[in-house]
Amino acid sequence: SAAEKGGYDYFMLKEIAEQPKAVADTLLGRIDGSGTLSLDEVRIPDGVLREVDKVVIVACGTAFHAGLIAKYAIEHWTRIPCEVELASEFRYRDPILDQQTLVVAISQSGETMDTLMALRHAREQGARVLAICNTNGSTIPRESDAVLYTHAGPEVAVASTKAFLTQLVACYLVALYLAQVRGTKWADEIRAVVRDLSSISKAVERVLETMGPVRELARSLAGKNTVLFLGRHVGYPVALEGALKLKELAYMHAEGFAAGELKHGPIALIEQDLPVVVVVPSPRGRSVLHDKIVSNIQEIRARGARTIVIAEEGDEAVVPYADHLIRIPATPVLLQPLVATVPLQVFACELATARGNEVDQPRNLAKSVTVE
Ligand code: AGP
Repeated sequence: SAAEKGGYDYFMLKEIAEQPKAVADTLLGRIDGSGTLSLDEVRIPDGVLREVDKVVIVACGTAFHAGLIAKYAIEHWTRIPCEVELASEFRYRDPILDQQTLVVAISQSGETMDTLMALRHAREQGARVLAICNTNGSTIPRESDAVLYTHAGPEVAVASTKAFLTQLVACYLVALYLAQVRGTKWADEIRAVVRDLSSISKAVERVLETMGPVRELARSLAGKNTVLFLGRHVGYPVALEGALKLKELAYMHAEGFAAGELKHGPIALIEQDLPVVVVVPSPRGRSVLHDKIVSNIQEIRARGARTIVIAEEGDEAVVPYADHLIRIPATPVLLQPLVATVPLQVFACELATARGNEVDQPRNLAKSVTVE
């Protein structure tokens, strides 16, 4: 009913709007005043976490994209090697797992069969499993050694939005917590990130306030067949997520690429007027990546692409090459997906509406996939 949708036309719109609160709620009570993390619910003893020599993340769909981003954070902050694998592929390749492996299973519903089978396999091999889940008491957390709940609240729309942002927050918390427990030379950086994380929900709110032009742009592209998405570093999984949202909702051909791969094939797809969304990394931090992606934008634009550029406020280098410029607040490099994903959700939702599609119940899809 309209009341259930909180006055929005679709659950998806309501859930997109709820993201600042979902992010704040997922942090609530987990960071104390001095910037120390306490994840008491994670009932894996610190001694065990100190011995972990490999992290393996398993998940499907959007949750898999959260896992891809988590890898950057976990490896950077903890220096523990981290693999990310589609849950449906995991157990069929006989993965190397033992007591020192920490498997992180990410699932909104907690009922995804592929993810459940992957975690069962991991536990049979002696690995510890930590679930990141949005649904209290669901099967995946029940069968795991520990769970860190995302506090997104119920997600009704089939296309995942607020659950994704809170999965990212939970992944950052796990990464930072592992770093804290193990003691790391990045202690100062970690304290700074914890501070930035505490204020990130305001940044998400600011993005939501500026979505008018994104909607307008989406409507203008309703007649297109293809949209490409490019990113680098943590912007690469964001590109994959933008493409997945568009496939699910707009039923369009949408593909995400690592921008560095362009010249190895995908650039052949570029033709006159093809919309290409580019997620630009912060010009601060890893500025080499920023400069490389700016030249990628130049290259595709020279070949006729219509460039839709998502870039930090204050990033002036992209201006000459952006046919459409979507601004996001400056954040630490690793946290950028929390703000960069939001315009892509709005974009897909609006395009679906413009094409007359059913936003909350896309064809052929189920909210939770309980078969393999
Ligand atoms: C997201 O928009 C999708 N509907 C889908 O990819 C989903 O993320 C995937 O099926 C995993 O679901 P889960 O998080 O409930 O395990």
